[in-house]
Amino acid sequence: MLELERVDAAYGETQVLFDVSLAVGEGEVVALLGANGAGKTTTLRAILGLTPARSGAIRFKGRDITRLATHVIARQGIGWVPDDRRVFPTLSVERNLAIARKPSPFKRWSLGEVAEVFSALPHLMRRSAENLSGGEMQMVAIARALMGGPALLLLDEPSQGLAPKLVQDVLALIGRIRGEGVAVLVVEQHARAALSIAGRAYVMDLGRIVYGGSARSLLDDEALAARWLGKAAA
Ligand SMILES: Nc1ncnc2c1ncn2[C@@H]1O[C@H](COP(=O)(O)OP(=O)(O)OP(=O)(O)O)[C@@H](O)[C@H]1O
Ligand SMILES: [Mg+2]
Repeated sequence: MLELERVDAAYGETQVLFDVSLAVGEGEVVALLGANGAGKTTTLRAILGLTPARSGAIRFKGRDITRLATHVIARQGIGWVPDDRRVFPTLSVERNLAIARKPSPFKRWSLGEVAEVFSALPHLMRRSAENLSGGEMQMVAIARALMGGPALLLLDEPSQGLAPKLVQDVLALIGRIRGEGVAVLVVEQHARAALSIAGRAYVMDLGRIVYGGSARSLLDDEALAARWLGKAAA
């Protein structure tokens, strides 16, 4: 469904992605792991055309999207939840969700449908988004992305700043999303937790992919796990 082939990207003169190749299949959950500054966010930004690939190719559903404008890429069915959880603070949760609904060739979620997946949402609908807790805000940010009707969702550290219990909840939500046929590429610091819901994983280091394979084999291989997951105990 999504394929990056030997992608390089840079901020000005500084190259930060080197030869990044990865793939996400239809309805698959794939984890993108790695230390701070490894290039995970930039990889998502390259997919979205926000930090365009300088070389290499990015294909989505067979179409070359490498040089397309960001809004055109989004319209192909790629949703994004950035690491700063963009919601409109002064609007109600309900309004935040309603304005996120966009024309899409894929399944567009109704308010009722997202509320079925995120069972805590109905209680929050009338609340102003600025008064939500971190976990609630993250739920709304993900729900907003679903309202756009994505076939693929890019999640940048969805559990950032959340208590351990909420980390599990957010990851369980990702499992639910996959159950609805949406593919997910998720960047996570909680590597082991992410691997428990992902089918496959990639690890980045210094702008390069240094591991790509099944989540299981990364967890089970002690040497690999010690090397790439060592400090991420969660
Ligand atoms: N806007 C920018 N301008 C210049 N350099 C940047 C910019 N954003 C990121 N970088 C650099 O690019 C490299 C990769 O950053 P990136 O944000 O992709 O890493 P990351 O893996 O998402 O890290 P983190 O886990 O801290 O979010 C880092 O060295 C970072 O300092
Ligand atoms: Mg990042």
